[in-house]
Amino acid sequence: MEFLECLKGRRSIRKFKDTKIDHEVFKRIVENASYSPSWKNSQTARYIVVEDRVLLDKIANDCLNGFTFNEKTIKQAPALVLVTYVTGRCGYEKDGSFSTSKGDRWEMFDAGIASQTFSLSAYYEGLGCVILGVFNEELVSEAVGIPKDQKLAAMIAIGYPDIKPDMREHKTVEELISFK
Ligand SMILES: Cc1cc2nc3c(=O)[nH]c(=O)nc-3n(C[C@H](O)[C@H](O)[C@H](O)COP(=O)(O)O)c2cc1C
Repeated sequence: MEFLECLKGRRSIRKFKDTKIDHEVFKRIVENASYSPSWKNSQTARYIVVEDRVLLDKIANDCLNGFTFNEKTIKQAPALVLVTYVTGRCGYEKDGSFSTSKGDRWEMFDAGIASQTFSLSAYYEGLGCVILGVFNEELVSEAVGIPKDQKLAAMIAIGYPDIKPDMREHKTVEELISFK
């Protein structure tokens, strides 16, 4: 697949076929995501793949603060990937102080870069996915048992697409760029 085709063709997918994703495919996607740039090469992003239907339904039913739009997506996805980050490294100096005025916000920044690389790699593998930001962090972390040194950044529902969304509207270059 050509780079620009991958970049422009990827769309958020919220309807999936009932087909399991091979673990080797997940490993290839995470290998690609591991090439993402990160704060001082700290590589703090981690990926927890939830496939257990009971756990998926628990997250969908109890951990979304009642946001039924995401509940519907998770209930028919064969897997949900929790993108987490190891805390206390990204954005920090060795002595534990913050490197910049942005404090620990670089942790989420790096998790975002990793999530986009993950999403593009999933598309390259013929999969569809959607990044989910609306969830109850505490309840999901408890339900899944996220390690104590990690925090949940985002969830990615993933599967083989059962829908092909049209190209969406996007802002023009003139709206986005400025030169000084
Ligand atoms: C940080 C972030 C959080 C998002 N949260 C949700 C979400 O909770 N539920 C959802 O259905 N889509 C969510 N999305 C997907 C966006 O709605 C989607 O990317 C946007 O509408 C553009 O569509 P496209 O991805 O198909 O280009 C999120 C995307 C990002 C980057």
